[in-house]
Amino acid sequence: MDPLLLKVLNGVRTPETPVWFMRQAGRFLPEYREIRKQYAFDQVLNDPQLSKKVTLQPIQRFPKLDGAIIFSDILIVLNALGCNVSFEHGSPSIGRTLDQISLNDPVDYSHFDTVQAALKSTRLDLPSHVTLIGFAGAPWTLFAYACDGSNKNGWKKAKELLTQKPLEAEAWLSKISRVTRDLLLLQIASGAQVVQLFDSWAGDLSNDEYLSWALPYAEKTLKDLKVPRIYFPKMQEIPVQLQSFDCEALSISWESSLLLARSRFSTKILQGNLDPKVLLGDENELDKHVQAIMESMKNHGHIFNLGHGILPQTNPKAIQRILDMVKS
Ligand code: CP3
Repeated sequence: MDPLLLKVLNGVRTPETPVWFMRQAGRFLPEYREIRKQYAFDQVLNDPQLSKKVTLQPIQRFPKLDGAIIFSDILIVLNALGCNVSFEHGSPSIGRTLDQISLNDPVDYSHFDTVQAALKSTRLDLPSHVTLIGFAGAPWTLFAYACDGSNKNGWKKAKELLTQKPLEAEAWLSKISRVTRDLLLLQIASGAQVVQLFDSWAGDLSNDEYLSWALPYAEKTLKDLKVPRIYFPKMQEIPVQLQSFDCEALSISWESSLLLARSRFSTKILQGNLDPKVLLGDENELDKHVQAIMESMKNHGHIFNLGHGILPQTNPKAIQRILDMVKS
């Protein structure tokens, strides 16, 4: 029998709401920080057994979780293109930006070996009620990192490339879409039962820019994949054009209204969208927010999640509290 999260993504109506958390395999967990005392981030990222261990940490601590997101990073696609990403100083730094590499450089698919091996091995040891989630970054979000390295200048170089050399931008976005799609196909072949595409910087584009430079490439990346697809356009106002986006579920940002999404995207399963900052505050406030979300999604396909990743300073007790409420 399919696990709950997969069932809901396949359109089955269930009395119970599935729940998982973006960035659940990471820095808010003391047991992850213990591992990081011994190993650098790159080492965990390049070792299937360590990646598996970190993937399973939240599952072991919180048996009520319905999803396990594989430990990896969206930026491995840029490494395959030749960008030489390093994580040495906490935030990623891009060794070679897009202007320093060539469209004709061969793609080095060996950067995808670890995530494949980690998925295969994790799937063998995952409790059968938990769904294994693969993921990648959406083309615009990866392109923005590849051009600028970080958003401290508002993706200046990325936006200049879009406006000044649109043909070149299009060629890069197409190449990134192809490689990201290949990564997702490999993840699915290795045991990912669901995939999520993170468009974390979608909200840094205007509506028109998003429709020209983000949406079409995200669509290309996810088209015809054989497992349920969750798309996360992290933006305040999600354009109506997403009604015809070929995916099973939309993940809604905390800055956006779940009720509005429900009326606008009535045929989509919706995921989200608790504000990660609410987990840092008062427990009664947290309860109210969780209840409001559950209430607003009654009788609509819903996956409980945050509206962006768990903040590193989150107390694991807040996660347990949410799980107890959603599952009560
Ligand atoms: O539970 C999980 O989600 C684990 C897998 C995961 C990581 N990164 C591990 C990681 C996932 C899904 C990501 C996605 C990711 N990576 C995104 C999209 C999601 C989002 O939050 O919008 C982005 C933009 C990145 C790029 C990236 N990687 C940044 C900006 C950073 C540094 C700051 C941060 O967000 O933690 C990373 C490093 C990174 N990736 C860490 C982890 C656990 C922290 C590294 C450490 O200090 O141990």
